[in-house]
Amino acid sequence: MPFVITDPCIGTKDSACVDVCPVDCIHPRKDEPEFAQTTMLYIHPDECIDCGACVPACPVAAIYDSPDSTPASQKALIEANFVYRAGDAEAVAKAEQIVKSHEAAHADLMAVPPAERAAAHAK
Ligand code: F3S
Ligand code: F3S
Repeated sequence: MPFVITDPCIGTKDSACVDVCPVDCIHPRKDEPEFAQTTMLYIHPDECIDCGACVPACPVAAIYDSPDSTPASQKALIEANFVYRAGDAEAVAKAEQIVKSHEAAHADLMAVPPAERAAAHAK
């Protein structure tokens, strides 16, 4: 069960998770061309080995330890993590479209500062 990045990453993109991931499965990295254009980062579901190092590294608590533990309001972003592929423009666009739909559907959460968004997930 892969870990999942959710909406506190939108507008944050801290990348501390990338630095601690032992298998380099979080993208885009700052040195990848897609970094500037994406709204958040994504975990490759087949490459994540569930080590959990990324969770405490994220300053805005954006990462959940499985699709099952991902809150209801964040479920659409599971698919965004699943479809994103570095270097594949179509997959990048698809993931970003899912994020845009999520933002439109959750204007309430988007109005909350990223650092407080994870706390709002449970409400
Ligand atoms: Fe990497 Fe986090 Fe998975 S550190 S291996 S993405 S649990
Ligand atoms: Fe995003 Fe947190 Fe990583 S803000 S880039 S999930 S450290």
